[in-house]
Amino acid sequence: MPAELACFEERCRARFPVTEIIYNCPRCGGLLEAVYAAPEGHPADWKRMWRDRRTSNAPLDQSGVWRYRELIGFLDDFRHVVTLREGNTPLLDAPRAAQYGGLDRITFKHQGFNPTGSFKDNGMTCGVAQAMRLGARRVACVSTGNTSASMAAYASAAGLDPVIFIPHGNISFGKLAQALEYGARTFQVEANFDQILALVRQLAERLGIYLLNSINPFRIEGQKTIMAEMLDQRDWRVPDWVVLPGGNLGNVSAFGKGLRELKAFGLIGRLPRLAVVQAEGSAPFYDLYRATDRSHLNAVTHPETLATAIKIGDPISWPKGLHEVTTSGGVVEKVTEQEIADAKAVIGRCGFGCEPASAATLAGIRKLTAAGTIAAGADVVAVLTGNVLKDPDYIHRYHTGTLNAPDGTPLRCTFANPPVVVSADAERIAALLGN
Ligand code: F0G
Repeated sequence: MPAELACFEERCRARFPVTEIIYNCPRCGGLLEAVYAAPEGHPADWKRMWRDRRTSNAPLDQSGVWRYRELIGFLDDFRHVVTLREGNTPLLDAPRAAQYGGLDRITFKHQGFNPTGSFKDNGMTCGVAQAMRLGARRVACVSTGNTSASMAAYASAAGLDPVIFIPHGNISFGKLAQALEYGARTFQVEANFDQILALVRQLAERLGIYLLNSINPFRIEGQKTIMAEMLDQRDWRVPDWVVLPGGNLGNVSAFGKGLRELKAFGLIGRLPRLAVVQAEGSAPFYDLYRATDRSHLNAVTHPETLATAIKIGDPISWPKGLHEVTTSGGVVEKVTEQEIADAKAVIGRCGFGCEPASAATLAGIRKLTAAGTIAAGADVVAVLTGNVLKDPDYIHRYHTGTLNAPDGTPLRCTFANPPVVVSADAERIAALLGN
């Protein structure tokens, strides 16, 4: 069976050619997903083949996404693939973070090691390949910063024109800098993420621009491989929990779909439980999960959080996200600005750090272990979605004790490590070092 696009809504499930430029189901407006038959062959053989590809010098094999190309068969051939060697991100043990989170052990899958510093690269190599296959010249996205950085890089590498739309004054400097450096036409729009998304969907249609927001089902296909790579790195031992931050809910949709497919194809025997963590001021998915009526999501009109990556009040992929959380027996948690800030500093002290949104994972784990939802002895993989250098301003404020919550309340900077200004005086410095 060639790949098709299918409506995600159970009551519709209409199917469309994979080359049709649609972002929602033309019949019912539902979300779309790529569907295929199971790859041919035996799971043990695929596992061996994927492992062997790690020693190959072929660009496709070196990509931590395209190495698993049997799982993402939406292309007819690989002519249009541009890879920056995305994926290949490490699994890192972090005893200090485990202790903080109330766990015996924790493993971070650190997506910040990607070429543009976030998990978006896993999806973008697929989204841009599809754009090229469709003959698009221009691609666009609305972003809280990481999608735009990634799209700018991959589109420019592919010779396409990237156009990005970001909420003015609401993305971190590192991310804006990347978009400019990678050559994207950059519009800083005076509206929030959700408002800009509505605007850009209109513009994309009018100007014939291919949209690469996470509503794009091909990006979701690429992000699926984060789970395949994680399991490959663990010799296919399934963790009890996979914990990730939630914003627009593309990533949880991708992880859930990827894991379900791996199980259906016989690569794993069970699903890990998915735990999604949101920032308290921007937690519509948490509210939905807690509601007795889960048939519609109540958007947060004025989302607030210093974790700007997940400052999204109307997450577009909520039906998929909800399906994946419930199918996996997972949970949704929310955490305060203070909890994110402290968890982030702890992850920094582990020697790798992450951006604020990513730290919501450890903050959420601390709450979930305290509540007894996650057992101390559980096997937990937390996904750090973005690199520590994405938001240096936040870090500087935290360590100099000047970080305020969005409502202006000063945050306690418990783990602050402020720089010391000193004259070029050896005696003085030795004294400061306690000698
Ligand atoms: N973590 C980081 C670092 C992100 O950039 C995002 C989303 C998320 C978590 C949430 O992932 O949306 O799939 O639930 N960033 C998007 C962007 C919205 O535009 O870069 P999600």
